[in-house]
Amino acid sequence: DKRNHRHFMKKEIYEQPEVIARALGHYINIEGNSVDTASCIDFASVPSVAISACGTAYLAGLIAKYWFERYARLPVEIDVASEFRYREIPLPPQSAALFISQSGETADTLASLRYCKERGLKTGAVVNTRESTIAREADAVFPILAGPEIGVASTKAFTCQLAVLATLAISAAKARGTVTEDEVKALVGSLAEMPCIMGRVLNSIQPDIELLSRELAKCRDVLYLGRGTSFPLAMEGALKLKEISYIHAEGYAAGELKHGPIALIDENMPVIVIAPHDRFFNKTVSNMEEAAARGGRIILITDEKGAAASKLDTMHTIVLPAVDEIIAPMIFSLPIQLLAYHTAVFMGKDVDQPRNLAKSVTVE
Ligand code: F6R
Repeated sequence: DKRNHRHFMKKEIYEQPEVIARALGHYINIEGNSVDTASCIDFASVPSVAISACGTAYLAGLIAKYWFERYARLPVEIDVASEFRYREIPLPPQSAALFISQSGETADTLASLRYCKERGLKTGAVVNTRESTIAREADAVFPILAGPEIGVASTKAFTCQLAVLATLAISAAKARGTVTEDEVKALVGSLAEMPCIMGRVLNSIQPDIELLSRELAKCRDVLYLGRGTSFPLAMEGALKLKEISYIHAEGYAAGELKHGPIALIDENMPVIVIAPHDRFFNKTVSNMEEAAARGGRIILITDEKGAAASKLDTMHTIVLPAVDEIIAPMIFSLPIQLLAYHTAVFMGKDVDQPRNLAKSVTVE
């Protein structure tokens, strides 16, 4: 049932405020502004966390790495599951390992889970499908409660994975005493506001995105840039666009621009800069200026504060509400998903079932 939407993907994008609220309700106590992710994994005593996943789930893990390191002061080892399982990583057996998978059946992720279990690590599965192999075999299960995801391109599962991983990082931080009680309250308070903000964004950005999609649809290549948690988001934006529109896209850390990709930039190359007004904003803007100076057509995705602070004449600026840093990746996912969706629809592509892709990859 597409609930009056043309495609499952669009329905799933618009469902995010509702499913995220449900997922958060499972892990946070909104009145008390506290987290409850009780499980057999004792984050207070682990020396590090290993994370393994594929595709979009891997990019959610990369964002979570920033959170675990910053808030819980826990080192995170992360890799795509197809590499993780063969790298012979020297993992301390007292560590915890997290496996992120919408389907819970991805072959490489399952193999990484078995690899870690054999080495004595405590394993946790961040999954959407609770009756899945990965959920069954892990020591602890953290359901993301996104409901069935039909569109092959992952959207609501990604933001629900992020929401659950954020609560895990906060609860690890609390257990390790690396954040104060007030900081926990503030972080949980920000998460609690997120569904409502997502709803507002979804109701307001569509006209802007549609306009921009018509431009993107004419392009052969698109570059996405970001710093901090916006870097994995840049990779997610590129992945989403390429898988459903078949436009070649790449996501780069903004600081890497001058180490190679800047050579690609000319007047035919749109550069999508993901830059909330955070502590990296000025640095990202200076990378954006370098791209603009080489004729790159800049599309800036920022917030109200960022839009006011940036003086550059962009081809297009998408302005989101200014939000706390912890929820910015989820809020900024929305224009990224919609941009890929509308571009692909405008080009007449089959967005729910892109060519050559399967929803669940059960072979290596
Ligand atoms: C991208 C996408 C894929 C999956 C990947 C992992 O939109 O859907 O990259 O994220 O195949 O799948 P799961 O999460 O089922 O392990």
